Amino acid sequence: MNDFFRIKKYDCVDSTNELVKTMAKKGEKEGFVAVADRQNLGRGRLGRAFFSPEGGVYMSVLLRPRIAPEKAVSITTMAAVAVCEAIEDYTGKKTGIKWVNDIVVDGGKVCGILTEAAASNGDFLDYAVLGIGVNVVSPKEGYPNDIKGKAKALFEGECPLDAREKIISGILSRLYRYYADIDKALYVESYRRRSVVIGRVVGVIKNGRECRKALVTGINDDCALEVKYDDGISDVLNTGEVSINYEYKP
Ligand code: BTN
Repeated sequence: MNDFFRIKKYDCVDSTNELVKTMAKKGEKEGFVAVADRQNLGRGRLGRAFFSPEGGVYMSVLLRPRIAPEKAVSITTMAAVAVCEAIEDYTGKKTGIKWVNDIVVDGGKVCGILTEAAASNGDFLDYAVLGIGVNVVSPKEGYPNDIKGKAKALFEGECPLDAREKIISGILSRLYRYYADIDKALYVESYRRRSVVIGRVVGVIKNGRECRKALVTGINDDCALEVKYDDGISDVLNTGEVSINYEYKP
């Protein structure tokens, strides 16, 4: 592992994103990484909770990229590719990306990514806290009802002892490569190739409400989603969420 990252491990925290955000506001240098075995108040996108029992990797990385606030989504998309590559390398399993931040394996969500960024002067971000939660081994108590059938772990029941460490280091080493060349957007082709939504009809969710069905026609070079609604109108989505049937096998 290169010395850009300074990793601190915790048994249990409320949320690694919250912890790292507090440190960011106090002036911590980029490269700080908090990794927890469990979270009490794991946070997902759109104000949702992220189930964070023992057996997962819950990590948040502090970055201070010189990018405009509207490009903050690129932190999520580059991380998605880093996570996919790390999982594939370690487990040999094929991964897919459900735009914008979900990693799926065998039709189930194995990882979610939440980037929380702040900008004060408008030109560049002050910081971005990149939070990644990977379900490494299935929880003993099973998944709660709201995510049963959607969430999945990389390993069922048992996993190799080094699994969490290998996944953490695999993610960070790839993330570093993409982050160091952030302007070149080297990850975009790889993101597009793994998309499980291109060519499918999805529900476009804006402001937390599903509003319209649309055909996904592509993903552009900013990893924004190109869609066509059934009235023939095209749209480019920079943020939001789409719903698909998780039975889909990439
Ligand atoms: C999502 O699927 O909606 C995003 C989930 C992001 C979860 C990770 S776990 C580590 C970090 N800390 C948090 O509280 N959330 C992120």
